Amino acid sequence: MHTIGALALHAGTKVQTIRYYEEIGLMPAPERSAGGQRRYGEAARDRLAFIRHARQLGFPLEAVRELLGLADTPDRSCADVDAMRTPESAAALARAARVLPGGNTRSSLWAAPYPLSITGGAGCRITDADGHSYVDFLGEFTAGIFGHTCAALEQALTAAHRGGFGLSSHTPYETELAGELAARFPSIELLRFANSGTEANVMALAAARLVTGRDRIVVFAGGYHGGVLTFGQGNAPVNLPLDFAILPYNDPQAAAREFAASGDSIAAVLVEPMQGAGGCTVGTPAFLQALRELCDGSGALLIFDEVQTARMAPGGAQELLGITPDMTTLGKIFGGGLAFGAFGGRKAAMERFDPAHADPIPHAGTFNNNRLTMAAGLEAVRHHLTPAALAALYARGEAFRAALNDLFADHGGAFHVTGMGSVMNIHGTGPDAAIRRDRLRLLQFRMMERGFYFAARGLIALSFPLGEAETGGFLDALDAVLAAGRARPET
Ligand SMILES: Cc1ncc(COP(=O)(O)O)c(C=O)c1O
Repeated sequence: MHTIGALALHAGTKVQTIRYYEEIGLMPAPERSAGGQRRYGEAARDRLAFIRHARQLGFPLEAVRELLGLADTPDRSCADVDAMRTPESAAALARAARVLPGGNTRSSLWAAPYPLSITGGAGCRITDADGHSYVDFLGEFTAGIFGHTCAALEQALTAAHRGGFGLSSHTPYETELAGELAARFPSIELLRFANSGTEANVMALAAARLVTGRDRIVVFAGGYHGGVLTFGQGNAPVNLPLDFAILPYNDPQAAAREFAASGDSIAAVLVEPMQGAGGCTVGTPAFLQALRELCDGSGALLIFDEVQTARMAPGGAQELLGITPDMTTLGKIFGGGLAFGAFGGRKAAMERFDPAHADPIPHAGTFNNNRLTMAAGLEAVRHHLTPAALAALYARGEAFRAALNDLFADHGGAFHVTGMGSVMNIHGTGPDAAIRRDRLRLLQFRMMERGFYFAARGLIALSFPLGEAETGGFLDALDAVLAAGRARPET
């Protein structure tokens, strides 16, 4: 137990601040000791630390209330809102909200009380609407592997633009890019381009259903394959109305049971070798190999969603694992910074997309072979996503994740990091999900204050321009934040 004296240390004004927070409902009322002295428990002390830091970072009281899950308490304090650190981001969101619901057009960017509005970037740095500069450790949720500016990609885009875009026809770029990708991925003999990872997965599932003549699709809890294929919290209401079996990830026995019960009706198993949005949960080789064998035994198609994991090696995670799926879906990095998707696989499955096939599967899309995307993708694959560059980035990520975990452990283990290579996720440690989430958000605020940016949900994706100076700077800043001693594990 800590007395209010211990909390307030030497400053009398802190006592007033705490009383004020009590009055407006942010702090629980103190207990009274036998002598009538005010006493606060450990939880109250933690909450005070949270409130004060959120306030120092410029969050107004109503935002702090929301962060603490107290949004409905009567607000007697909003008049008191003082200077915020990021008022222009708040104002930008308010302006956007007039024409975009909640000011948002991409749900994953939202984080209470409001996300930063980023106005520009160069290399591995970004600048927010208030002029604060950050080293970007989020890397556009893994798509931004090239950083925010890249002279060679700019030249490739300019050349394609000068040569004419939207040519209403086949163009040479798509053949060359398809050739590069087919040469890299063991599972891809033929492929088709799309405009996003979501679309690639939607089309891969359509292909699997039409080729096998079956309807059931096995996916995994925590999986994310796009806006209409989201399994973070069961079968999202926005998902495609397909016959999904949602199984636990990394559980070969559960998969075996599903195949024993319904193997004849399973068209495909759609799986990420590492669940990216699911917190960078790495699939075990035994689990992924078991899926390979179950599909072989039943005639279902095994589809690896490598939209995030393709960066792990020239042939993606499947190359590292030595497991060859029947189909692979790609996205993000292969568009050289532009919207991109692709799905491919064995000839037997993909040849149905040949328009001259006796029973063709149609797949239209105005921008499927967009010349700008194809040109940027080709430049990216040939000159940037080289085997040496990917291996170096993978190694940098492995070392960085290990250093982060060591640092968190040294500071009491309030957080830990999971992931593979250059993609990883910080997690709060402890039994209470709400506290874990708030602590992680607070850690993010503190790191933003020191000029380092990563996702509110803890995602970090390294990019080529992020070097040792930046990862070292991140570790030093994190050390200072943790040493401040307030982000302790749950008690
Ligand atoms: C594993 C995975 N699959 C599919 C997608 C969807 O890709 P897109 O956002 O390009 O539609 C994502 C996006 O984050 C992803 O991480």
